[in-house]
Amino acid sequence: MYGLVNKGIEQFIVARYGAPAWQRITERAGEVPEVFISMEAYPDPLTYSLVGAAVEELSVGAAELLEAFGEYWILYTAEQGYGGLLEVSGANLEEFLRNLDSLHARVALTYTELRPPSFKVVAAGERCVDLHYHSGREGLAPMMIGLLKGLSKRFDEPIEVEQTSARSQDAPYDVFRVTWV
Ligand code: HEM
Repeated sequence: MYGLVNKGIEQFIVARYGAPAWQRITERAGEVPEVFISMEAYPDPLTYSLVGAAVEELSVGAAELLEAFGEYWILYTAEQGYGGLLEVSGANLEEFLRNLDSLHARVALTYTELRPPSFKVVAAGERCVDLHYHSGREGLAPMMIGLLKGLSKRFDEPIEVEQTSARSQDAPYDVFRVTWV
């Protein structure tokens, strides 16, 4: 994944667990560059091995860690120069979710090797929607929960989020039910 993501993981770990913890994680993961360049594409196994090493070193669950990182991502991208893009991507949470593909399409204009996720918003009742998450990658659904919680805080729209279906051969996408409370 792009350096922006790996750097985000580094900053998240340092902020939450301290620089020595990050040092131990990189030693455990092995072959980690000294610095990540945001606009450089790195092989996915590097990102997965950083997460794996963090899970072992910090004794936290992978889902818990990915969820917390997802929430951090909303604050992190805003401070990495994407505040404007976040601003124009929706005046409220639902509009923002409907614009997630165009947000990533904008990102792909500069990050030309981007393999972005893709989303579909399906009305599911008066106060809820189902968000379909399509991804070429495995295991990132917990991060989506955190991303949605981070967006809920950003828009000051309290929600409940639940993963109601996991991808399978019949339906190759995860589904998250978002309910406004
Ligand atoms: C301005 C804000 C954002 C930027 C700059 C951004 C950028 C990126 C980048 C660079 C990647 C890595 C893809 C790759 O290296 O191929 C990525 C992946 C991802 N993004 Fe975003 N993103 C933003 C906001 C969001 C939001 C708000 C969501 C969801 C609510 C989201 C969901 C994801 C997910 C789930 C992935 C994992 C990739 C996958 O499933 O294959 N992103 N994004």
